[in-house]
Amino acid sequence: MAKLLALAVLGLALAFVGERFVTFRQRMNIPHQVHPVEPPNCHLVPGLDSTVYLYVVNHPHKKSTVEVFRFEGDALFHLKTIRHELLFSVNDLVVLGPEEFYATNDHYFTNEFLAQLELFLDLQWTNVIYYGPGQVKEVAAGLSFANGITISPDKKYIYVAAVTAHSIHVMKRLDNENLTQEKVLHLGTLVDNLSVDPATGDVWAGCHPNGMKLLLYDPTDPPGSEVIRIQNILSPKPIVTTVYANNGSVLQGSTVAAVYNQKVLVGTLFHRTLYCQL
Ligand SMILES: *[C@@H]1O[C@H](CO)[C@@H](O)[C@H](O)[C@H]1NC(C)=O
Ligand SMILES: *[C@@H]1O[C@H](CO)[C@@H](O)[C@H](O)[C@H]1NC(C)=O
Ligand SMILES: *[C@@H]1O[C@H](CO)[C@@H](O)[C@H](O)[C@H]1NC(C)=O
Repeated sequence: MAKLLALAVLGLALAFVGERFVTFRQRMNIPHQVHPVEPPNCHLVPGLDSTVYLYVVNHPHKKSTVEVFRFEGDALFHLKTIRHELLFSVNDLVVLGPEEFYATNDHYFTNEFLAQLELFLDLQWTNVIYYGPGQVKEVAAGLSFANGITISPDKKYIYVAAVTAHSIHVMKRLDNENLTQEKVLHLGTLVDNLSVDPATGDVWAGCHPNGMKLLLYDPTDPPGSEVIRIQNILSPKPIVTTVYANNGSVLQGSTVAAVYNQKVLVGTLFHRTLYCQL
């Protein structure tokens, strides 16, 4: 008797599940074809089709670390902290792949007094480090306060700003990730951070027209801002244009200009952010 009852209950349960399954399929499946409909100007947003990582240079207790984050939807997850004895005074980095990057050290000394002295004496002892799977090594040395670093759209060249030499070093990547210097572009201004226009390959630099005003900040005579664009940087005659210059009345201490789709954002050390339509 008990067995018969159990069998009846099982039968009912199966019938119920079967019925739910059929209606579930009906609910989930709308039986018509998708006919394309598209407004005239739709573009996929580049870079958002895959996971986006964020690398942040951090200076806890005057040391240097690289913090790696991953975006998932709107949320940002901290994945890991990278520390290495060769990454001792990291200024900026350019990511090549997962946990693979080139980074600049902007000082040779980490001791604050010696670091100031180094700047004062213009010791050209700063460098570029390759950090990658299985190896970490110095790939360029002898730079004057290496700062911004970025990569050409074809990934074959690395551009490094040398602040106190007022220049950008153009370096070629070798198969073993070493760098060889192709040329040095003198710009006559203190070159801080760099970016590359993904559409044209032009290099954009946030610059300091007067470094002393930056060091000895006086609100009545503040440091100015300068944004420089370099077209055809690999050609024998690159075209250098001052796209923006201001004596500090609007924008002080520009460090970076990032371009996308004819729009430029200019960031500063401690002041405001400027947005321009080109
Ligand atoms: C690559 O650079 C490292 C450090 O600068 C150096 O020791 C090594 O010899 C270089 N390798 C080549 C093939 O140039
Ligand atoms: C330098 O500029 C790049 C854009 O090319 C930006 O991603 C990076 O955060 C900047 N780094 C610093 C240290 O300002
Ligand atoms: C800075 O420029 C503004 C406008 O261009 C001008 O009014 C001002 O006098 C200048 N300031 C200095 C300190 O030169």
